[in-house]
Amino acid sequence: MRFAAVLVAAGRGERAGGGLPKQFLPLGGESVLRRTLRPFVAHPQIEAIQPVIDPVFDAEYRAAAESLGKLLPPVAGGKTRQQSVRAGLEALSRNAPEFVLVHDAARPFVSEGLLDRALHAVRSAGAAVPAVPVSDTVKRIDATGRVAETLDRTSLRAIQTPQAFAFAPLLEAHRRAAEARRHDFTDDAALLEWAGSPVATFEGDPANLKLTTADDFTRANALMAASLGDIRTGTGFDVHAFGPGDFVMLGGVKVRHTKSLVGHSDADVLLHAITDAVLGALAEGDIGKHFPPSDPQWRGAASNQFLTHAVALVAARGGRIAHLDATILCEAPKIAPHADTIRASVAAIAGIDASRVSVKATTTEGLGFLGRGEGIAAMATATVRLPWGAA
Ligand code: CTP
Ligand code: MG
Repeated sequence: MRFAAVLVAAGRGERAGGGLPKQFLPLGGESVLRRTLRPFVAHPQIEAIQPVIDPVFDAEYRAAAESLGKLLPPVAGGKTRQQSVRAGLEALSRNAPEFVLVHDAARPFVSEGLLDRALHAVRSAGAAVPAVPVSDTVKRIDATGRVAETLDRTSLRAIQTPQAFAFAPLLEAHRRAAEARRHDFTDDAALLEWAGSPVATFEGDPANLKLTTADDFTRANALMAASLGDIRTGTGFDVHAFGPGDFVMLGGVKVRHTKSLVGHSDADVLLHAITDAVLGALAEGDIGKHFPPSDPQWRGAASNQFLTHAVALVAARGGRIAHLDATILCEAPKIAPHADTIRASVAAIAGIDASRVSVKATTTEGLGFLGRGEGIAAMATATVRLPWGAA
């Protein structure tokens, strides 16, 4: 194994207050820890993630980690951050990676670019930490609060995590520090400095905020709201005609009927309308542009892959789907008995909570082609939140 990560989440978050430790508090609709885990899980070069937790909060951990891949079984942390990191490294040592990233659960704004820089820096330096220039003037004060000296800002850096290390020397330094009864180094770089090993820096990220106090949560919430404030709306519409058969696909659910829908793919009229709505919100053309009906590979295709693709385009822009609303138009089959199953299915395909999906149905009072029972139509609206400044 080349790259693994240790994610320390065993602290009590006393300075943040708020009942639960800060890594389990909600931030923009999901827990801080889940947000922190996500970019590590998504990074193609990171093969395994070793979470370190306080077993008292096992249930909260499970909720945060649910359905995320690459996560090794969590191990119990120690009294200090350093001891928690050590526990994670010892657990990883059974199948040791070449390099390890050590990251605080309290930093949920890790970008893919920051991870790329960490992996790149550690390959050449063996130990490298993200550094951010200090913009305030920094002074040392004496015990009475009087200024003792002004430090040279040009040589000062604020150091973040993820910090990246060759695995074996880091574990060795941790073991030696423990033997020397040193347990309170506040980061891993400090421990290597103590051991006399060089530590390089790479460009950190000012947005990689560390959540320490309740104020930090207020700021983080404001940042998130602003960062996904570019709200887009898209609409979609689709029709498929009935042909012989005994079921129709609606939102990825097989609904028994006396006919089937005819189409090039599985003719899931609802997923097609929703997919077009999502593509519309991105101004990315329509489903036919992404999945040409002339292409034989989409013959009989399950339509969930169309929506999955549209959802991935949203994610690739750093966005989220806020809501999907759809109406199915037909005389038969009756939709109401299946509406909740269809909602849950669409939500699972779109990777969002079912409370963000609405599925309604109506007849056309016997009028027109739908009224004559010649097919099913569906219309959909997608609300998508993108970061400001995205193309
Ligand atoms: N951490 C840990 N084990 C500890 C102490 C801290 O795993 N014994 C983790 C925290 O969960 C956090 C990171 O180390 O993700 C950075 O520590 P800090 O910000 O100090 O978090 P807490 O110790 O939880 O907060 P506080 O000091 O306010 O209690
Ligand atoms: Mg602490």
